[in-house]
Amino acid sequence: MTIIAAPSGPLRGRIRVPGDKSISHRALILGALAEGETLIRGLLEADDVLRTAAALRTLGVEVERAEGLWRVLGGDWSGPERQLYMGNSGTGARLLMGAAAGQGIACSFSGDASLRGRPMARVTDPLGEMGAAFETREGRLPVALAGGTLHAIRYRLPKPSAQVKSAILLAALGASGRTVIEEPVPTRDHTERMLAAFGASLSIKETPEGGRILALEGGQRLAATELTVPADPSSAAFPLVAACTLAGSEVDIEGVLMNPRRTGLISVLRRMGASIEERASRTEGGERVCDLRVGGGPLHAAKVRAEEAPDMIDEFPILAVAAACAEGTTRMEGLAELRVKESDRLAATAALLEANGVACRSGEDWLEVDGRAGGVPGGGLVEARHDHRIAMATLILGLSAKREVAVDEAGSIATSFPDFVPLMRSAGAELSQSTA
Ligand code: S3P
Repeated sequence: MTIIAAPSGPLRGRIRVPGDKSISHRALILGALAEGETLIRGLLEADDVLRTAAALRTLGVEVERAEGLWRVLGGDWSGPERQLYMGNSGTGARLLMGAAAGQGIACSFSGDASLRGRPMARVTDPLGEMGAAFETREGRLPVALAGGTLHAIRYRLPKPSAQVKSAILLAALGASGRTVIEEPVPTRDHTERMLAAFGASLSIKETPEGGRILALEGGQRLAATELTVPADPSSAAFPLVAACTLAGSEVDIEGVLMNPRRTGLISVLRRMGASIEERASRTEGGERVCDLRVGGGPLHAAKVRAEEAPDMIDEFPILAVAAACAEGTTRMEGLAELRVKESDRLAATAALLEANGVACRSGEDWLEVDGRAGGVPGGGLVEARHDHRIAMATLILGLSAKREVAVDEAGSIATSFPDFVPLMRSAGAELSQSTA
């Protein structure tokens, strides 16, 4: 399926983007580990999260949607040798590897072409240190896990990754002893917050260098709970940047998760001169959320330092779009991890800009974008490379370009934001599907 974005006028309206993907995966997995019935409101019903739900069912857990809520009846997981197909989802695959290892069950993991190309040793190595026996295809999927008991470890994360941290924490729940994880650079802390909501005791200490040390005693049983999933800031990023770049726009985005480990994009856009107002700040599901009022107007270039990258790790393609519409050259550093996302996102971002007449330069872990404040030329046909965020970023670029922009194979958008096209259209974006 090809989607075409045409030059659009100002965006208007009040919209709500779907539930947070990171929190949705964790809500299902923790619910499946807990004793009793967990109820989840606002779960993201997109391909990635539905894969995690399906994998849990394969492991014998009752997971069902009833009257707008999701109900998970947790308890013992059943092996042996169940095959879990995780589709495009790195988060689902890595978190479930940790949880399944902690439960001592034997199972195997596979995924689509994008997921089969992504590194899994970052998870199977530390879990292996805990005693889990994994067989991988040179550190990639398919991965087979042999059941067995685990013991605690002390582990310092070699690079910032919430997925790796979470996989170890979930494994540690079922391990003997006290697992200690040192995180030199803090990453999204949804697993820690949700473990507490499920009654687990976890110690968190800040280090003088700005890192964190987490400690979790094994053998704890989780207690079922009720949860609400706030709107995903990584999905909100697309209408947000669209509204910032289309002059005269005024869009309200409701109930957006404002966890400080997820708001890096908002900080950078404000530095670029964007008008983003926080309204009705409140707490939902143990997290701060607010409504964002976004206005369109001129943007200027900014520099993003490497230490800022973890708090906006999924937002670089869409930040590059904002940079393309800004005055001056924006430089982004600390992007090495983008090479191993759903696609090589650094290369894919550079390609989407170049296909639309925006000059950029990149190195192993940086990107510079020459803004075209006078008008992005557009006219490109971009390959999504099985990467939902590349597909959506390209279409947002098209809204403020002089000529139409098309994305080939845009089906990947359904992995995180199935209603992206109708929602953007409701605010005035000129998006259309072509079957040609
Ligand atoms: C996620 C962590 C990040 C992010 C991914 C979701 C999570 O990955 O890119 O989309 O839910 O823990 P890394 O842990 O690889 O940085």
